[in-house]
Amino acid sequence: MRKSIFDKRLEHHLEELRWLYMELYDNGSMFAELCDQLREFYDDRSVDLKKQDKAREENPDWYKKNDMLGMMLYIDNFAGNLQGVQKKLEYLKHCNVNYIHLMPFLDTPEGRSDGGYAVSDFRKVQPHLGTMSDLKKLTSSCRKEGISVCMDFVMNHTSEEHEWAKRARAGEGEYMSRYFFFDNDAIPAEYEKTVPQVFPTTAPGNFTWLPDAGHFVMTSFYPYQWDLNYKNPRVFNEMMYNFLYLANMGIDIMRIDAVPYIWKELHTQCRNLKQVHTIVRMMRMISEIVCPGVLLLGEVVMEPEKVVPYFGTVEKPECHMLYNVTTMATTWHTVATRDVSLLKKQLDIVNSLPKEYVFLNYLRCHDDIGWGLDYGTLHRNGMEERAHKQYLNDYFQGTAGESSSRGELYNADPVTGDARFCGTTASMCGIEKAGFEQDDAAMERAVRLDVTLHAYMFMQSGIPVLYSGDEIGQLNDYSYKDDPNKAADSRYLHRGVMDWELAERIRDKKSVQGQIFSQLDQLEKIRKTEKVFMTQADTHTVDTGDVNVLCITRCYEGEEITGVFNFSEYDKEILPERLGLQTSNPETEGVEAAGGCLDLISGKRVEASAVRLPAYGFCYWKRVG
Ligand code: GLC
Repeated sequence: MRKSIFDKRLEHHLEELRWLYMELYDNGSMFAELCDQLREFYDDRSVDLKKQDKAREENPDWYKKNDMLGMMLYIDNFAGNLQGVQKKLEYLKHCNVNYIHLMPFLDTPEGRSDGGYAVSDFRKVQPHLGTMSDLKKLTSSCRKEGISVCMDFVMNHTSEEHEWAKRARAGEGEYMSRYFFFDNDAIPAEYEKTVPQVFPTTAPGNFTWLPDAGHFVMTSFYPYQWDLNYKNPRVFNEMMYNFLYLANMGIDIMRIDAVPYIWKELHTQCRNLKQVHTIVRMMRMISEIVCPGVLLLGEVVMEPEKVVPYFGTVEKPECHMLYNVTTMATTWHTVATRDVSLLKKQLDIVNSLPKEYVFLNYLRCHDDIGWGLDYGTLHRNGMEERAHKQYLNDYFQGTAGESSSRGELYNADPVTGDARFCGTTASMCGIEKAGFEQDDAAMERAVRLDVTLHAYMFMQSGIPVLYSGDEIGQLNDYSYKDDPNKAADSRYLHRGVMDWELAERIRDKKSVQGQIFSQLDQLEKIRKTEKVFMTQADTHTVDTGDVNVLCITRCYEGEEITGVFNFSEYDKEILPERLGLQTSNPETEGVEAAGGCLDLISGKRVEASAVRLPAYGFCYWKRVG
């Protein structure tokens, strides 16, 4: 009898999967159960999804295309509910988006949800957003339109309202063993000696006392988010079944939330332990067996040397994609200091990594910006970590330097003096201030900075992801302060409701919305058409000789595009020779023979002898002839 596709895939991974599973759990019957369940989930997978799996298996680089553009959105903020999102697919296509990240939508208790990251039922949609059947309909429509759908798989913890948590709280040993329960504070106190805090102000400590249960429970995030104990194979198996259930709803990309935290050991920091990598590797194999069309996106908000291992190795890959978090934070450092050197260095690190590694690039996400910068380098340049963080936070609140930014601190830690930052891209670029002060010149500069930051992000190696609302320059939303469920969490400042009235203005090219939308549209179309934007392209930075100006060049199959970005409020002129660009200069003889450049924004052949950039401006030049 011919082997089924499932058997072939299982056979391919079985030995390694069993080996890793037994190393972690040493439990043959639980492993056998896992394998049986994999088959069941494969059998349940729809014909359409299986067809897509096969196509993607044959073309594993399907997502490494230059037309990939993501957008992250909260379903209710964006369109009310899942059916509403379905009705907005035309708008998303108009935004050139072909990948949407639906922010957490699974059932979660109101007011104790951490923006949906406290899941009380992995198989139920929050009732006000719709049902699993709505989700299936949406993913199926997206598939027809060529839009991939990403969701969060929050596997580090459950809500205290999850069935397991309720039964654990009631004293059922089987369920207590799925979390970390302690009847006194001796062990929690030991953990606290080495485990840093995630939310030092809004949720201090890593344990929560449950007076009714007479126990402490481990809660690395909020007290209502109970850490799961992956030392228990039942937890691993059940969570994998949840993962596959959701994959079968037609999800293309699983964002593994807070993945570095999923394994805990006493006397460690409980982050990035080697067992975490064993689990992620097993997840990768499990999805390659059941649903090879699904991609794993790891949420690793850490310094570069901790992030990269989550790609695994070429032979034993873990995540398909990771967030380019240090580059994102360094970008804002560059905005505040006008000095591109650290950013150049950071981009050089990313560009030197193997091309199989795909990063998601972004200017903003739903979380705060943590100032995770390369302080070693900054220190050598005379910048001290604490003082510099203070400067960045002051700058983006608009109180230091020549700043036009507006925004708020997040989790300011009175002990360490540390704080992170919240604000929308537009508000951080000065659009909010300029609008409030009705200052046209400042508005022009702020819009230019906003667009330049996007143009620079699009030049980076990897896949760009927009935050919904950024395409029309949405501002901070201060209304969260009136909602008692949100008031203590300033991340809601940049998680506002999509303003569809403002979005109407995109047709008016003179409006702020129209200017941003149309310029991003042009950049997105350039990205789609020019093959140098493929993720496999060679990307490198060029020293411009000007500390305010960054230059990135991308080369692919003989083509070359150079992006030059002015991070200062002064107009700049850079000699093309400096950037390795030969231009056709009418004043010099015979230069035509050396070839020239096409300015992709104006569409004109470049005749100038210098690259001229206005304050906060940029250019994209393509080598031609
Ligand atoms: C991730 C999410 C964040 C959430 C945390 C806990 O970091 O991005 O919003 O608070 O996980 O689940």
